[in-house]
Amino acid sequence: MKVFVRYINEAEFACDALILPMLEGEGTGYYNNIDNSLNGLIKRVIVSKEFNSKHNEVCLIHTEGKIKPDRVLLIGLGKKKDITRDKLRQAGGKAASHLRNLSIKDAALSTGTVHSLKLSPVDFIEGSLLADYDFTKYKKEEVSKGIKKITILSGENLYKQVRRIEKTASAAHFARNLVNTPSNDMTPSALVRAARSLKKVSVKVIDRRQAEKLGMGAYLSVAKGSNEPPKFIVITYKNKNIQPIALIGKSITFDSGGISLKPSEGMEKMKYDMAGGAAVLGVIKAASEMHMPVNIVGILPAAENLPGGSASKPGDVVRTIGGKTIEIVSTDAEGRLTLADAIEYAKRFKPSAIIDIATLTGACSITFGNEAIAMMGNNESMMEKMKKASEETAEKVWQMPLFDEYKDYIKSDIADLKNSGGRSGSLTSSAYFLKEFAGDTPWVHLDIAGTAWIDKDRPYIPKGATGIGVRLLLSFLKANSL
Ligand code: BES
Ligand code: MN
Ligand code: ZN
Repeated sequence: MKVFVRYINEAEFACDALILPMLEGEGTGYYNNIDNSLNGLIKRVIVSKEFNSKHNEVCLIHTEGKIKPDRVLLIGLGKKKDITRDKLRQAGGKAASHLRNLSIKDAALSTGTVHSLKLSPVDFIEGSLLADYDFTKYKKEEVSKGIKKITILSGENLYKQVRRIEKTASAAHFARNLVNTPSNDMTPSALVRAARSLKKVSVKVIDRRQAEKLGMGAYLSVAKGSNEPPKFIVITYKNKNIQPIALIGKSITFDSGGISLKPSEGMEKMKYDMAGGAAVLGVIKAASEMHMPVNIVGILPAAENLPGGSASKPGDVVRTIGGKTIEIVSTDAEGRLTLADAIEYAKRFKPSAIIDIATLTGACSITFGNEAIAMMGNNESMMEKMKKASEETAEKVWQMPLFDEYKDYIKSDIADLKNSGGRSGSLTSSAYFLKEFAGDTPWVHLDIAGTAWIDKDRPYIPKGATGIGVRLLLSFLKANSL
């Protein structure tokens, strides 16, 4: 979907559908003139209560040649006092999904109501772009639907903002595609290909032999049960001469639990255990396409966690690249093993900060459902900045504590640490485990286990992979690169 901006009267703009955002309880509101041209068709659906302008409510009316657009699509914004930026984004998503489902290709957005609310039509359109997504690659019959173009009818100069949302939405779609792809196709080697598809970045891949030489024993232990070769992927995008920021994404292409095998029910969803890595790739893709003035090192310690004749066993002890030893009490707490080596490896780049993003714990989704990313870290000011980015993007983060008492949870009798403190407190004790590797480097951990996958459609996120983290981290980088 391509976005255009044109300054032209709504009634004069030929298109398949003109989108009219409507406020609840305000009648035809901004659109009296159009309604007059339509002989009161809009008023009629409002008076008859067929359309009440409730938030995300839609109503499609054929114009039968009375104005240039073939149809008008009324989209409810709800009550004026309740409107927020994200509600506007949602309305944009809802309107676009409705048009998509009807195979409508060419739409326009009237900006009158939005401007009267002192909001930006760009947020509405961001929702439309994010909603305009499907994953039909594996369906023989179904062809991918999609809106071809949407024109914002406005006299403002929105060029920069529009390019920005186009790039961020397409990066989110890129991440969703990687996550939705089943693990037989989305292997560690496939992640390498995805990384190499990015432009203006350099990609280095550390294979099993090199990782052994480097001493990445924790990371490698996760891949031992699988025939898929592990790939430790390092991507750099540098467009400013400053210390890099390290973005580490958990990249377990399938998590069976290993010898500590997961129950089979619902296991198919564990293809989304590389959503953190997908988010990092999405962020770097958009950053490079937008020429963002940043220096990013992206790290994806990719591996597949399977049981097998040479798989790690509970009780095994492994050594990380930095020398710390870890007792593996559960082979299902594999993410933190890969992240331990990745964090220590990242420190070699002398980063100003490390952010890891990971589908790390079931406890995260038990706590927040699909609603929030759990955030923990060793640097309050960085976390405050992340909260700002969260407010900007509505990719919600919620800070959780890292009490020193959690240190006891991960004490091992025979090694420096153990990889699991059991289920009680596992959201925070898993983060505490990572903190031991971050050391003094400012570090933030984002647990996206609850938010990376949804089972029901949302106004601008179809069910399946959400692409969470892409917009959040881009907003964080933008605000902190100026
Ligand atoms: N990938 C899982 C976490 C997960 C669970 C993500 C459900 C998304 C949905 C992770 O590797 C894991 O298995 N964690 C265990 C840790 C436990 C063994 C300490 C968990 O949270 O149950
Ligand atoms: Mn696991
Ligand atoms: Zn996992």
